[in-house]
Amino acid sequence: MYDLKPPDRIDTLFLDSRIAAMNDGTINILYNFALAVTDKKISWMGLQEQLSSTHFSKTVNIIYCKNKWLLPGFVDCHTHLVWAGSRSDEFEKRLKGISYEKIAEEGGGIMSTVNETRNATREQLFNLSAKRVAHFLKQGVTTLEIKSGYGLDLETELKILKTISMLDNHFPLHIEATFLGAHTVPSEYKKWSDEYVSLVIDSMLPQIKKQGIATAVDVFCEKIAFSRAQTEKVFEKAAQLGFKIKLHAEQLSDSDGSALAADFDALSCDHLEYLSESGAQKMAENNVAAVLLPGAFYYLNQKKKPPVDLLRQLKIPMAVSTDLNPGSSPIHSITQAMNMACILFGLTCEEALLGTTVNGAKALGLENKKGSLSPGKDADIVVWDIDTPIDLCYISGIDSANFVMAGGNIIHNSI
Ligand code: NIG
Ligand code: FE
Repeated sequence: MYDLKPPDRIDTLFLDSRIAAMNDGTINILYNFALAVTDKKISWMGLQEQLSSTHFSKTVNIIYCKNKWLLPGFVDCHTHLVWAGSRSDEFEKRLKGISYEKIAEEGGGIMSTVNETRNATREQLFNLSAKRVAHFLKQGVTTLEIKSGYGLDLETELKILKTISMLDNHFPLHIEATFLGAHTVPSEYKKWSDEYVSLVIDSMLPQIKKQGIATAVDVFCEKIAFSRAQTEKVFEKAAQLGFKIKLHAEQLSDSDGSALAADFDALSCDHLEYLSESGAQKMAENNVAAVLLPGAFYYLNQKKKPPVDLLRQLKIPMAVSTDLNPGSSPIHSITQAMNMACILFGLTCEEALLGTTVNGAKALGLENKKGSLSPGKDADIVVWDIDTPIDLCYISGIDSANFVMAGGNIIHNSI
């Protein structure tokens, strides 16, 4: 992979960096390596001495990294970034001991954000969300998954998904849109959850497919949301329509959703605090990634941790994500999520770094393009002024990269 000759034509050349390539299952540190970008892809990586004077022509944009660390852009593979309103009142309620489930049962929680999002204009929703995306980009996040799910009616779900595609067009980073119409049962269907599931299946899914504005379908399979049987119905239709499958599984209890998702060859099961051994086994057999969301665990003051040792034993790829949302995880920082994954779930720093790069990409089915550095991958490149990549887990508050290139476009350079 690294013995190729440098290409004749180079657009951007990174010199004098230390590279953490995030491939071969490790951080994979490469010293004295240079990296070339041609036509928005990594075209070459190799020892700096392989370069000759012809590679330093005037047309090449040379980035001298001054011995700083060069990493792939982060992949935040699970967010609910498009919403309106705030849930700070619920945060205070939870501090007084009222549970997340109780708040949801009383019509708050997800439903409260749904009401605010339904009332927001497209422009308001875009402006609120654009600020959040810009913040992530500054932190070196170059791939972002965003779920709908705060609409729960066709009109608002489409409004959210269109906002996501506007964000994707507006920003140079890559956005994957996931349809989460089965996020919770909206209050107008409170006593008719099966009817709501039928609405998702018969009306929302075909419309969304037709408009081509989501690649994956997700469901919240939980006592306070949808049963395993209801989840299965949504997945059947989603799979028929050719959507990729993801699942909010075993967050607050064990619904055996992970085994169901594995049967549908899901890309990932997310949360997993209550994951059973048999569920994990099925995930391993079907190559399903585990997405760990320590922000929600922390904000909901949960006690039961995901079975990280079991995931390791079964060699299930572990991704780490912010789960950015206004209720269970108002975490706007990918490095904070990594730090929490280490402290709260016992991940090693290497696991956390792989979790927000190569394994985050796996959880989106994008590992051939995103989340690691090797020739042929997209030019999503971030330079950090740190002593070691471990600092990104260890030091709290490193939220600004020195250089960000997303899809071959330079977004920011303060090297
Ligand atoms: O991933 N678990 C369900 N969905 C979100 C929470 C959404 C909310 O509380 O608004 C989650 O934690
Ligand atoms: Fe979530």
